Amino acid sequence: MTGGSAGTGSHKERNSVPRPSADERRAQYRECRRQLEALLEGESDLIARMSSALALLRETLPQASFLGFYRALPDRWLVAGPYQGPVACLRIRFGQGVCGTAAMENRALLVPDVHAFPGHIACDSQARSELVVPVRAAAGEVIAVLDLDSHEPAAFDACDEEECERLMALIAP
Ligand code: SME
Repeated sequence: MTGGSAGTGSHKERNSVPRPSADERRAQYRECRRQLEALLEGESDLIARMSSALALLRETLPQASFLGFYRALPDRWLVAGPYQGPVACLRIRFGQGVCGTAAMENRALLVPDVHAFPGHIACDSQARSELVVPVRAAAGEVIAVLDLDSHEPAAFDACDEEECERLMALIAP
């Protein structure tokens, strides 16, 4: 698996760095969480909170080709929120694709091979793997999902899933 520490180059350059050890990755997530908590202090706007999380996650997950939020609407559609990466589809129905399934089932979905996920929505034909994590309000209902895509197969693992769940627990104002 490739990936690596935070960098500023293109996707390919960023992926040429060896992937850090599990301990290093946990430390990066710890630092990401610390910075996010500090950034979100006193800010109640959901879009500002999501945007801040993405800016930090981009540095923590250099293997991600797309990082974005889809917000849950009352009519059970997801609509694009802040995102970074190539242009994405703007609306996804609950139950459709990886994002819509995660929203409908209110659970994280780790997809090491998107071609093996029935109904995967290919916004980016180069996407190979994906991690979707719900953002929940205090009562537990899904208010958004975090969508992470990568051009590498199996770019995310259980550590990313667990750590992103912890980060997403900070997002609801
Ligand atoms: N692949 C997602 C759609 C969103 S894009 O990847 C940005 C899905 O299947 O839900």
